[in-house]
Amino acid sequence: MTPGEQTKIEQFHDLYYNGLEGKNAIHLHTYWLGVQVLKCPLDLWIYQEIIAELQPDVIIETGTYKGGSAWFMAHILDLIGKGEIFTIDVADDLARPAHPRIHYVKGSSTDEQLLHTLMNPRPTDETRLIILDSLHTKAHVLKELHLWSPFVSPNSYLIVEDTNINGHPTYPTFGAGPYEAVEEFFKMNSDFMVDTSREKFLMTFNPRGFLKRLP
Ligand SMILES: C[S@@+](CC[C@H](N)C(=O)[O-])C[C@H]1O[C@@H](n2cnc3c(N)ncnc32)[C@H](O)[C@@H]1O
Repeated sequence: MTPGEQTKIEQFHDLYYNGLEGKNAIHLHTYWLGVQVLKCPLDLWIYQEIIAELQPDVIIETGTYKGGSAWFMAHILDLIGKGEIFTIDVADDLARPAHPRIHYVKGSSTDEQLLHTLMNPRPTDETRLIILDSLHTKAHVLKELHLWSPFVSPNSYLIVEDTNINGHPTYPTFGAGPYEAVEEFFKMNSDFMVDTSREKFLMTFNPRGFLKRLP
C-alpha cells in the first residue's frame, strides 16, 4: 500500500466514524433487521466469512448492548444450520431480540467465576469463536484477553473489537484501549497471530484485532 492510499483510507475511516461535519456518527446508526448494531458493515461481512469457514459450535461475545451483533450472528448460524451464542453484558435490556440460538448472560466479562460456570461444562473439542466487545479500556481488554484466550479453539479467532480508537486511526483522545491491549498481550502470548487478511476491505474497526489461534 502506498502512503497516499493509506492516508485516503484513514481519512475515510475517520469521516465514516464521526459522520459528515463531525455530526451523526454513522456507526451509531447501523441496524440489522431493525436492531442497532455497533459495527461497521464491512466487519459484519468478515464475521459472516469467518463463521461460514469455521462452522463454530459456540460463539462467546463480551458486550451485548442492544443485542444487534448477536442477532446478526444468530441469523448467520441459522443459515449454516448450527451453533449457539452466549453474549455477556453487565447491563440488562429487555428489548433485546429473542432468538433460540442466543443466550443472554448478565455479568462482567472479567468475572472468573462466571467464565468457569459457562465454560467448564462445555466439550473441550468444540469449535469456539470469541469476540471481545465490552469495556474498551486497555486494562479491561487485556484482562479479557488473558481470561478468554485459552478457550479459543485452534485455527479459530479471538476478535478484539474497536482497536481503531485512540488514533488507530480515529477517536485519538480515547486513551489506551483495545489496540494497546493487543500489543501488550503479544508481549506475553505466542499462541496467536494477527490475521491481517481479515482487514481486506481496507476499512475495519478492528485493525490488528483479528487474532487467529495457531494450530
Ligand atoms: C460496544 S457495546 C457492545 C456492542 C455490541 N456488541 C454490538 O456490536 O452492537 C459495549 C457493551 O459492553 C458492556 N459492558 C461494559 N462493561 C462490561 C463488562 N465488564 N462486562 C461485560 N459487558 C460490559 C456495556 O454495557 C455495553 O452494552
